[in-house]
Order: sequence, then C-alpha cells, then structure tokens
Amino acid sequence: MVRSTTATLGEARQPVRGEVLLRTERLSKTYATRAGEAVHALQDVSLAVGDGEFVSLVGPSGCGKTTLLMILAGLVPRSSGEVRFKDADVHEPCTEIGLVFQRPVLLPWRTVLDNTLLPAEVLGLGRERLRPRALDLLKMVGLSGFEGKYPSELSGGMQQRNAITRALLQDPAVLLMDEPFGALDAMTRDRMSLELQRIWEMSRKTVVFVTHSIQEAVFLSDRVVVMTARPGQIAEVLRVELPRPRTLEIAASPKYNSYVLHIRKLLEGEVHEG
Ligand SMILES: Nc1ncnc2c1ncn2[C@@H]1O[C@H](COP(=O)(O)OP(=O)(O)O)[C@@H](O)[C@H]1O
Ligand SMILES: [Mg+2]
Repeated sequence: MVRSTTATLGEARQPVRGEVLLRTERLSKTYATRAGEAVHALQDVSLAVGDGEFVSLVGPSGCGKTTLLMILAGLVPRSSGEVRFKDADVHEPCTEIGLVFQRPVLLPWRTVLDNTLLPAEVLGLGRERLRPRALDLLKMVGLSGFEGKYPSELSGGMQQRNAITRALLQDPAVLLMDEPFGALDAMTRDRMSLELQRIWEMSRKTVVFVTHSIQEAVFLSDRVVVMTARPGQIAEVLRVELPRPRTLEIAASPKYNSYVLHIRKLLEGEVHEG
C-alpha cells in the first residue's frame, strides 16, 4: 500500500513540509479560442505548497499543467478561484517566483555568465552587484570554467543548468519548472534529476515541477499531484515517503516502484489529447 488509507484528498492537498507559501483555491481557467470556442483547461484546482517543499505535477498532455504554472507565475490570468503567494493575490509576475521552461531559452549572443545575469539587467537589479552571486550559482550547478562560453558551445544539460542559474539569480522563494528535462536524453535526465535534488537541498527553494516522467516525479518529490485529462482536476495527491538524499539505486526499491505503478495506473484511465 503506497498511501495512508486515512488521508483524504483534502488533507493530501496540504504541504508535508514547511508553512503554506503558495496556494490555489478552486482555481479554474477557461480559454477563449479565436474561433470563439471555450476551452476548459483547469477546474477547481485547490492545492497548497509548503515553504521548501518539492511538488511535482503529472497528467496527460493538454490537462492544463503549463496553464497552472503560468497562472502561479502571474503570467496568465485565471478565470475564477484564488491564487495566493504568502497570502497576497497573484496577478502579475514577481521576483519571488522564478520560471524554467522546457527549452532553456538562452540568448545565443550572450555568454553563460551574461545569460545568468540577464534578469539583473531586465529587472534593474544591478549587474555588478549580482555578478558574485551569478558566479556562485554557476559554480553550484557545475558550470565554473564555462562562464565565457556561448550556449551553442554547451550540451543540452549544461544549457538547462545555465537556464536554472538565471531563474535563481533574483533569489526567488519559488521555482516553477515546466518539463525542464523534457528535451534531454535519458542518461542526461538522470544526471539532471540528481543535480536538481542537490540544488534544491542546497538552496532550500520551493519547487513546483511539471514532468512527463512518473519516475522523475517520484524520485524528486515530497508529493506528486496527479491530474485528470482536460479540464484538469486533481485526481490524487501522493505523498512520497522515501528517505533523502535519494540516489539512482532507488529504482530497485519496491516502495519506489509501487509509487510509480500506482501513478501509472491512475494515468492509464485518462485520455491523452492529440
Ligand atoms: N492561449 C490559449 N488559447 C486557447 N487554448 C489554450 C491556450 N493555451 C492552452 N490552451 C489549451 O488549454 C489546454 C491546456 O493546455 P496546457 O496548459 O498547455 O496543457 P499541458 O501543459 O498539460 O499539456 C489545452 O487543450 C490547450 O490546447
Ligand atoms: Mg505543458
């Protein structure tokens, strides 16, 4: 049995680590297409994420995972419900919330260091003031010595680590990550999972992580939120009670595998879009 039979969905929506930092309450989103049709992307999503918690979102494609992250980032307006960060309404981007996309979106004409420092310029935080922090972050993600290189001279995994340093530059409390390792090969993904676990443990950030990989979600998370097909609703929130720090050998653990299997079965019932 992978979950406590006494935990209700209501309880499972509460953090297992830290005080509530980010919270949605009956959040719904309907897009209007150009043809004038309504697309119900999210419905009644209520979830609280704790300070320092690592939460993953998994679900069929088109179930609103990216939409949810964009609303949490203040980049897309919600249709109804509440979104709160430290009890303040989220309706525009703020420096406390950093975002990492599936593609690293680095500027090809800027060096690694200058890509890390981009937010300093965009947000007017002072390039010289943040330079030492940028160098520290590059060291933390293993890119020391590559400060003067250009994105085209880096591997996919290194580019994504560069993008992570950029998201961390402004020292956000929350890191939202939308399938950040989706474009990487399997072995690089494994290494990036280990790396992200280490970064998370060192930086004590709150992470909301979207992934297609059930294994990746179980490996990294305190809780895994399993969503239904569109309109995306929370099907179940699974608490992952595996000791940390986790190593890749965990793939041989029966408990780990029972979590993976449980989530796979939940998702099998959902229809994939496209
Ligand atoms: N700007 C938009 N206008 C209309 N429909 C959209 C828009 N963005 C996303 N959608 C639709 O909303 C649904 C959820 O999309 P998305 O959040 O990208 O899902 P996921 O990230 O889980 O694959 C999909 O059906 C998608 O086509
Ligand atoms: Mg998406």
